[in-house]
Amino acid sequence: MFVIIKEDYDQMSLEGAKIVADRLRRKPNLVLGLATGSTPLGLYKELIRMHKNEGLDFSKVTTFNLDEYVGIPPEHDQSYHYFMKENLFKDLNLAPRFVHVPNGMAKDINTFCDWYEKRIKEFGGLDLQILGIGGNGHIAFNEPGSSLGSRTRVKTLDEKTLADNARFFDDETQVPKYAITMGVGTIMDAKEILLLANGEKKANAVKSAVEGPITAQCPASVVQLHQNVFVVVDKSAGSTLEGKYHDSWKRILFE
Ligand code: PGA
Repeated sequence: MFVIIKEDYDQMSLEGAKIVADRLRRKPNLVLGLATGSTPLGLYKELIRMHKNEGLDFSKVTTFNLDEYVGIPPEHDQSYHYFMKENLFKDLNLAPRFVHVPNGMAKDINTFCDWYEKRIKEFGGLDLQILGIGGNGHIAFNEPGSSLGSRTRVKTLDEKTLADNARFFDDETQVPKYAITMGVGTIMDAKEILLLANGEKKANAVKSAVEGPITAQCPASVVQLHQNVFVVVDKSAGSTLEGKYHDSWKRILFE
């Protein structure tokens, strides 16, 4: 595991974007796993800048998003479809047929989840999965207690997530109670993982994920079992880490 502690959010985002861009330059038909949330926004901005100013080409890239609410149409401004369109897709030259976000409106959700898993395999598996981390150690919608071998499936959102989300909806009845999420096992099958975290609120989760016991109580801790993980955090999120980390990972970039 390469743990990289950067000065602030902007530096964290640039570092993350460098890793993605490096992988894309090496493999133009990269299969990239994407995340929603506030954490990757800076990384996405930098990828857009690289695309516009440096010609970073996404035309052969395939993307798979981690998760989506059930019952929220793609055009709803709280859907993850909408989030990705607004914050990334509309500014890159991705081919729409290679872009995948779980379909929260699928008639048969279980069949859809099986299809999503198969589709990832059809493209040769995820080359690089971008991840945020919840304050409780969740990855995607795999909340504490999720099976570490889980695959893409429907999860019931926990009470805290429902309460956090309530402010984004006109009334409580509209707040989604379920989501489709890649499983922990799906994420672990990615060839490389890039986990980002910033801010003091993430410090305990980062400590548990990187240095704690491997446990379903902190689903992110499973990345300790993965061979190719970058954990890129800002100083606040990395403030409780005890290990000594350095930048030796740079040797494997730009060679
Ligand atoms: P955030 O969410 O990026 O909005 O902090 C991360 C997560 O919950 O996985």
